[in-house]
Amino acid sequence: MTSPTILITGATGFTGRRTVELLLENKHAVRALVRADDRRAAQLRELGAEVVVGDLLDLNAVRAALEGIERAYFVYPIAPGLIEATALFALAAKEAGVASVVNMSQISARRVAKSHAALSHYTAERVFDWSGLDVTHLRPTYFAQWLIYPHWRKHIVKHGEIRLPFGSGRHAPIAAEDQARLITAILENPQPHKGKTYPLHGPVQMNQQAIADEVGKVLSQEIKYVAITLDDYRQELEKDGLPSFLIQHLLEVAKDYQNGVFEGEDSIIAQVTGQPPMTVQAFVTLYKGLFTS
Ligand SMILES: NC(=O)c1ccc[n+]([C@@H]2O[C@H](COP(=O)([O-])OP(=O)(O)OC[C@H]3O[C@@H](n4cnc5c(N)ncnc54)[C@H](OP(=O)(O)O)[C@@H]3O)[C@@H](O)[C@H]2O)c1
Repeated sequence: MTSPTILITGATGFTGRRTVELLLENKHAVRALVRADDRRAAQLRELGAEVVVGDLLDLNAVRAALEGIERAYFVYPIAPGLIEATALFALAAKEAGVASVVNMSQISARRVAKSHAALSHYTAERVFDWSGLDVTHLRPTYFAQWLIYPHWRKHIVKHGEIRLPFGSGRHAPIAAEDQARLITAILENPQPHKGKTYPLHGPVQMNQQAIADEVGKVLSQEIKYVAITLDDYRQELEKDGLPSFLIQHLLEVAKDYQNGVFEGEDSIIAQVTGQPPMTVQAFVTLYKGLFTS
């Protein structure tokens, strides 16, 4: 097998996993970085990826994963450690002679962000910029995956409700699968995207009731948007045991959402890939099996 020149981090996550699949479909040799050598890692091997195990907070593991790599996708979860992981990744990428990096950030990454995760994303973007690597930053709005993340999906399945403190704010949910198509396209031809920052959106901007209506059409039942308070939201997230760092982020970006920070519609995915991102209806249809109680 040809030695891979493309590294995908977060290869068991939503954007990383789909990017690995698409690159392999396009006949690229791919190295996939995973945290644990588990069933998901075995599946990546079965697909044809070269799997390496390592933590993004372990410089030597990251350096080893980047050996011989020319292009990489960097993604880190909403968890403490993003700025450190980014600095280590940039250092190792420079040492390894990596030419281009696609960096997953988010739309709320701003100098004034109150979310610790969003401010870390903003800072991490700057770390990559200072590194001198050729980087493309992606700043997605809320993923369509919110509809299937366990905490939110549970309310849809059990009570026919989308429960969020989003007021009458709007966004165009963007599926990780469509972001993966863009990431793949950039990794295949990074030059035109060097130094660019792309806000990513789905095709149609909607408020939460409109999203609920689209979900309801696919599930053939009424789905209601229940506009809860931030206090209720905090309590519900705590009850489900979500980590405090994530809860702090979710509460602050809920306020951002109400203030329009997440608004916008796709302008780049369709342009670069020739195919518009999927609608909420198409997304729910894809994952319909997850909505049975
Ligand atoms: N969800 C949204 O609405 C949204 C919106 C805008 C931006 N974003 C950004 O999207 C990113 C998440 O992307 P995603 O949804 O594709 O990822 P994801 O599904 O949350 O998966 C995260 C991946 O990173 C891996 N990982 C976690 N910690 C690691 C570590 N220390 N070392 C190595 N690997 C590690 C995980 O492995 P394990 O599974 O083994 O832990 C997993 O493969 C975040 O940066 C977030 O800010 C999300």
